[in-house]
Amino acid sequence: MQKNEQIWQQRYLAAPKQLSKLKNIGTVIAAFNTNIDAVVKIRGDELSKLAEQFDLKIADIKNGVNQLCSVRDVVRGICKCFINGIAEEWLCQDAAIAEWMQKNLQYERLQMGGQAGIIANLAAVLGVKRAIVHTASHPKKQAEQFLHYKNLYAVDENAELQQASTMNRVNDDALIHYIIEFDKGECCTIEGQNFTAPRANRFIATYDPANMHLKINDGFIKYVDENGYDFLVLSGFHNLTAKNGGEERIGEIVPLIKNWREHYPSGVIHLELASTQDKVIRRVILEKIAPLVDSLGLNEREAIDAIEIIAPDYYKKNKNEVLEAALMTEILLKIKEKTQTPRIQLHMFGLYVTLQNADFRINVEQNRNGMLFAAVVAASKAGYGKIEKTEDLLWSNIQNINVPELAELQKLSECLNMPELLSEGIAKLGKYDIIAVPTLIVPKPLTLVGMGDTISSVSLVSAI
Ligand code: GLC
Repeated sequence: MQKNEQIWQQRYLAAPKQLSKLKNIGTVIAAFNTNIDAVVKIRGDELSKLAEQFDLKIADIKNGVNQLCSVRDVVRGICKCFINGIAEEWLCQDAAIAEWMQKNLQYERLQMGGQAGIIANLAAVLGVKRAIVHTASHPKKQAEQFLHYKNLYAVDENAELQQASTMNRVNDDALIHYIIEFDKGECCTIEGQNFTAPRANRFIATYDPANMHLKINDGFIKYVDENGYDFLVLSGFHNLTAKNGGEERIGEIVPLIKNWREHYPSGVIHLELASTQDKVIRRVILEKIAPLVDSLGLNEREAIDAIEIIAPDYYKKNKNEVLEAALMTEILLKIKEKTQTPRIQLHMFGLYVTLQNADFRINVEQNRNGMLFAAVVAASKAGYGKIEKTEDLLWSNIQNINVPELAELQKLSECLNMPELLSEGIAKLGKYDIIAVPTLIVPKPLTLVGMGDTISSVSLVSAI
């Protein structure tokens, strides 16, 4: 084995020791979007039938907007993701479309959905003292998606904590998102033409009036006002649209965040950007929320989308380039310059990259520890399919998945002319620190949903 591979394997073997430190962390709050994911597996022949039934044209798939205005759009969205092997989420405003999905899409299982819900479940397994989640709606069906842990709380209307898995607001609606997954190699026919899915991926069809308006419980706001947090992980802005008054809604939430920041300066606020289709909202998030937080998490697609807003000319020049690490790092720098967020972390296939101010309160070694542990947990989630118990976190480690593929890191260190980045994963990039960690690859992942949320939150909370 090559020397650098050995060095990284040693680091990966040591990564699980982060776990024992996590019980010292007090409060991790995850807000705002929690929902239920209904996972549907679609075969190529089933999709062909739907495409025929709705007389779908290839031109519609190529040119249409990323929105669900009719049932036909649901089929169009699945086809678009299927033939390109990509992941997208489209929103719908019409209850009739949701009803059609309920009747016509058979789900295999229900599971926790939404960044906040996924992160809260995970934080509880990590063993922090209190994982607290915001739920816009909390009927029994939602409660059932929370793990049955005593350190996992939701907040009631009187700002009191209650165990999330046992809370039941009987009058609330269940907010169900359809996660329509397909396997690599499945074949479907559209307009007489055959297509093969180049990658396993998913299309999300969302009808969720509460989260689409970013409804927040008063009890939750009061709780945070009065008690603070060690980590506050924010997401859910991506579900807003300009048409729905999303810009005004962000305008109402900005003072809340400013207030929390001012009152709890030792707490760390992280924003998980998530895929934001509406460009007006994307701009407002980047201009108004990103500059307020300590840390920003995003994947390569979300980074490119951000650049479309921040640097349109640069975007036009690079939008069709291969999204490899050197280009992504250049893009991260641009985002960082624009938003001035002290820490930015990119998670991409094969590599995580963090750029941060030299005086950031989490130092470079702590960041590297957190990122390595996040890769262990992400590989466990991908390979085992779920994280519900402490031992699930370390599944990949126990399976001896601990030698990372160094190709992306190697290219990056060569491009930046920084050999120390390849061996140490830590270097100086201008006035910033850069931390880059090669990840663990699971050949046949059982799940990919919520992977970004997992990586960002674990690498931040366990950066100790
Ligand atoms: C988006 C979807 C949600 C899914 C999550 C995964 O928030 O709306 O259904 O669980 O992404 O990251």
